[in-house]
Amino acid sequence: MIGIIGGTGLSRLFSADPLSRRGFESRFGKASDDLSFYSEAGKEIAFMPRHGHPHRAAPHLINYRANLDCLKQAGVRKIIAVNAVGGIHPMMGPEGIAVPDQLIDYTYGREHTIYDQESGALDHIDMSFPYSELVRSALLEAASLLSIPVLERACYAATQGPRLETSAEIERIKRDGGDLVGMTGMPEAALARELGLDYACIALSVNWAAGMVDEVITMEDINASLSKGMANVITIVRQAVAIL
Ligand code: HPA
Repeated sequence: MIGIIGGTGLSRLFSADPLSRRGFESRFGKASDDLSFYSEAGKEIAFMPRHGHPHRAAPHLINYRANLDCLKQAGVRKIIAVNAVGGIHPMMGPEGIAVPDQLIDYTYGREHTIYDQESGALDHIDMSFPYSELVRSALLEAASLLSIPVLERACYAATQGPRLETSAEIERIKRDGGDLVGMTGMPEAALARELGLDYACIALSVNWAAGMVDEVITMEDINASLSKGMANVITIVRQAVAIL
């Protein structure tokens, strides 16, 4: 079973109704929503809207642990995460798409590990390469088959939000090597690895990050780029599901 975690602009995966819906109990608490199950290219898909449906939880309030735990309980082993981001890399203007291969975590105060009990199991997972190459290569192959340009390597900078960054913060992130900036990439990627899930991200730029251009960032512009760019993302995700 393939899991898809939908971000802002993708609280419903397909226009059709799901085949079924099911909620799971998690020791981490309540997930953002029940899972919706679909069938695509003969594959079973479990879909979790990251912020709930309709859009509710702010990035720092999402129960990432419960969301991933429910997907795992449903039998998911491979996850495609869809994230809206701000662009720093020259190819990541509004509607640009990237499949990041690296990550820097600037978030704080979030439940960031499944190892939260004083006694019990502990594993220091390897995060040298934070995203699954298996899932990443399916996304890249899908984009190439569809002739949709994507940035094939990029560093995702995860910020705390919900406010956007200052121009100085983006300058710093750029110096650090960040190519795109979003609020939901972490701790999701690390938790997926702790849970033994193959996880990769497809990121859609919905604005130039702060200070990259001489304009203020408005929610109107963000929403316009979201609705224009998400169609390509969905097409890539569906093709990647067929490949996986
Ligand atoms: N910064 C952080 N997260 C975001 C942005 C941004 O500019 N755009 C969409 N998500």
